[in-house]
Amino acid sequence: MGDFEEACARLRRTDSLFVLTGSGISQESGLPTFRGVNGLWRTHRVEELASPQGFARDPVLVWTWYNERRAAHRDVQPNAGHVAIAQLEERYADFTLATQNVDSLHLRAGSKNVLELHGHLREARCDRCGARRPLEGALQPDEIGHTCGGRFRPDIVWFGEPLPENIWARAAAAAARAEVVLVVGTSGVVEPAASLATRAPRREAFVIEVNPEETAITPRADAILRGPAATVLPRLYETVAGRGVSCGPT
Ligand code: APR
Repeated sequence: MGDFEEACARLRRTDSLFVLTGSGISQESGLPTFRGVNGLWRTHRVEELASPQGFARDPVLVWTWYNERRAAHRDVQPNAGHVAIAQLEERYADFTLATQNVDSLHLRAGSKNVLELHGHLREARCDRCGARRPLEGALQPDEIGHTCGGRFRPDIVWFGEPLPENIWARAAAAAARAEVVLVVGTSGVVEPAASLATRAPRREAFVIEVNPEETAITPRADAILRGPAATVLPRLYETVAGRGVSCGPT
């Protein structure tokens, strides 16, 4: 049985699925990944834009960059890969989606049990008192200061910062109890998110990787589906839902 057939047979048999996604699943919506050919970290300075030190040094520069990213998120749509994951969710009593993405595309595609490991761009948070404010348009330089004396920052987990405790605990518990783990569009180089697909799952958990390229997660994968998410995931869903080619013996 090939990897695709084995993956869909496992997805059919289980009622406990954990999904981990990275920026690759949004690539076909038109958003850049981080480390790919035109990736954000190829054309921008990580330490100046996505770190507490960078924000302290130049909050206006950081907001300029995040305002641009938010505008890009608003201009794109969820793709067939996001939709397929939202459709898969309906099939499992125990389903958790942990995403490293901050683009809100999973929520816009209809996914419900979504853990945003690295935060999101729907709100800003005061770095002193924790007050939050919704982000409608671009945050202007004169809106950065907060009355408490702190400054509004993007509600994003930056390099060197811990993930939100309750989000991490729920993601780690879901990864540890899942019978099947589906990993889509991540290079698996950033911890602790990557450990959800490599160290957290039980030894007997079946790990499926959907990615056009080999990654740091590939050695743990039991089924490797080499291809773009917006092509592979809908085909996987249609087959699991019984409308595609046979899954092989289930
Ligand atoms: N479908 C599926 N996967 C794809 C596609 C696609 N169409 N296009 C690219 N990919 C894969 C790439 O092969 C790569 O493995 O997506 C992955 C993107 O990897 P990265 O650019 O490293 O992004 P990601 O893994 O999400 O980064 C993790 O690093 O910078 C931090 O916080 C940031 O959340 C981010 C984290």
